[in-house]
Amino acid sequence: MKINILPVIIFLLAGIFSVNAQNAIDKKVDALLSQMTLDEKIGQMTQVDYDAIKKNVDDIVKYYLGSILCGGNSEPDDITAKGWANLYDSFQNLALTTRLKIPIIWGIDAVHGHNNVDGATIFPHNVGLGATHNPKLVEQVAAVTAAEIKGTGMQWDFAPCVAVARDERWGRTYESYGENPDLVKMLGAAYVKGMQGKNLSDKTSVLACVKHFAGDGGTTNGKDQGNTEIDEETLRKIHLQGYVEAIKAGAKSIMVSYSSWNNEKLHEHKYLLTDVLKRELGFKGFLVSDWAAIDQLGKDYKSDIEKSINAGLDMIMIPNGYGQNNNYVDFITKLKELVNENKVPLSRIDDAARRILKVKFELGLFKNPMTDKQLTTQIGSKKHREIARDAVRQSLVLLKNDNKVLPLSKNLKRIHVTGKSADDIGNQCGGWTISWQSKSGNVISGGTTILQAIKNTVSKNTEVTTSTDGSGAEGADVCIVVVGETPYAEMIGDREDLSLAKEDAEAIEKAKTSGVPVVVILISGRPMLIEPSLKISDSFVAAWLPGTEGQGVADVLFGDFKPVGKLPHSWPKNMQQIPINIGDTNYDPLFPYGFGLTY
Ligand code: BGC
Ligand code: BGC
Repeated sequence: MKINILPVIIFLLAGIFSVNAQNAIDKKVDALLSQMTLDEKIGQMTQVDYDAIKKNVDDIVKYYLGSILCGGNSEPDDITAKGWANLYDSFQNLALTTRLKIPIIWGIDAVHGHNNVDGATIFPHNVGLGATHNPKLVEQVAAVTAAEIKGTGMQWDFAPCVAVARDERWGRTYESYGENPDLVKMLGAAYVKGMQGKNLSDKTSVLACVKHFAGDGGTTNGKDQGNTEIDEETLRKIHLQGYVEAIKAGAKSIMVSYSSWNNEKLHEHKYLLTDVLKRELGFKGFLVSDWAAIDQLGKDYKSDIEKSINAGLDMIMIPNGYGQNNNYVDFITKLKELVNENKVPLSRIDDAARRILKVKFELGLFKNPMTDKQLTTQIGSKKHREIARDAVRQSLVLLKNDNKVLPLSKNLKRIHVTGKSADDIGNQCGGWTISWQSKSGNVISGGTTILQAIKNTVSKNTEVTTSTDGSGAEGADVCIVVVGETPYAEMIGDREDLSLAKEDAEAIEKAKTSGVPVVVILISGRPMLIEPSLKISDSFVAAWLPGTEGQGVADVLFGDFKPVGKLPHSWPKNMQQIPINIGDTNYDPLFPYGFGLTY
């Protein structure tokens, strides 16, 4: 038998090259670190929100800041791709005037596409991607998102969220791929691979930030930033899996969770941050705090800093500027004092700065700090939108299809489209779109609403009539009712009652009284209580938060694409059943995890 040893040799050589590259980077980091003052090292550990510093941009130079972020509501006046790229470049130019010319790393929440940029491609939120159960697709979604981020110069995405949402009352359920750790770890790792590409230094590669470590989706009663009350075995089995897999996939940054584990806040949890994550799981990247999260550790900011840095945090996210409590100057001053008082060891500062600088070298940031303007023009391109459209198609879950009402013919005489979300790109996109909470209506340019998509799809001879309240379907061949949640993010979306809004239930009822077949499309970030609306509808589609490419919904409605989506959550019958998750004893959901019809 002949053995082909060429692949083996290539494999070994590749290994040697990457070890050599790593050694070369380590040398550069050591050389740089040996020249750095304490102020410069602490600067690297400081991440300031754009809003907090925009009136004092020279502080980037004065304090040697290592990182800037834009939170959900921080943005330049010009929110086009060009405007964002200009903002980024102007800040980076400042950073490059510092003594050691260390570039800043810029973080942003591109959690379903580059969602703060007007005209960007907006993908389904993670719950929808969860319904696809398709890691190849998620890898593509992440790669496109990375390319759009790079088009604005930035190179760090606060995603993927690998929360395992165990209680749908949680307002961040849609940021999670689903209730099952196997699904979350598969898609989270795929996202990291797509985002970071083959090499972090590639033109369209972006650093992923896996969040929120750990147990954010397991809090009691689904309370945002709450307390996860479970034993260590359960924490590891359910909530740590996403991190294990993401680290294997090469993740080099992780964001720590606001939440607590058995009453101890994660931001001061040395055991989980240092012993488990950095030592046991071998995480070599850096840990960033959540937004002002260390401020919650106690009444005294200085001791908050001491606890969090000693627990293993490497970079602190600071949204406060002059005149506010706990602003970035406070942070820098107090951390420096703590080092001088030997309360935070210098070795900890060196370790943090080393981890951050290493990633900056790996990103090729020292070589290519500025925006590649060629990439700016491809934001929201047709090619990118096609991938989002495909993601939408694959994310739809068909829950009911009596009398085979779906797929619809494109040659019907009249289709009536109704419901408050039929023609609403804001509702379709959900939270984290242009602004943190986002809103209904025309929040973003580009994209296609479901109504527009239906009009684009039917034949010339088909009349499409509309209303918003369910009325007017009499005499049509079919009535499509698009209803559901309106945008929210984080704790603002925590709910005690997941019933459909009254106006939505009434719209479905009204449509039913017209006597024509009723197809309901539910736009939501999570399963909702859909009885009795489900009973009176003929077909029912869970469309999650599909994003800008509503055409993907029409592709499925009219049979150009058969439904393939499967539930990423067990669908509850009533509030009393929540939390309900696959594997529970006495499991009796309305629809089980993994359910989904097709035609
Ligand atoms: C959220 C994070 C987000 C950060 C920055 C926090 O409130 O919990 O997910 O990355 O803000 O916007
Ligand atoms: C910011 C978000 C952040 C949130 C935290 C908002 O003002 O825009 O990015 O996640 O505050 O509370």
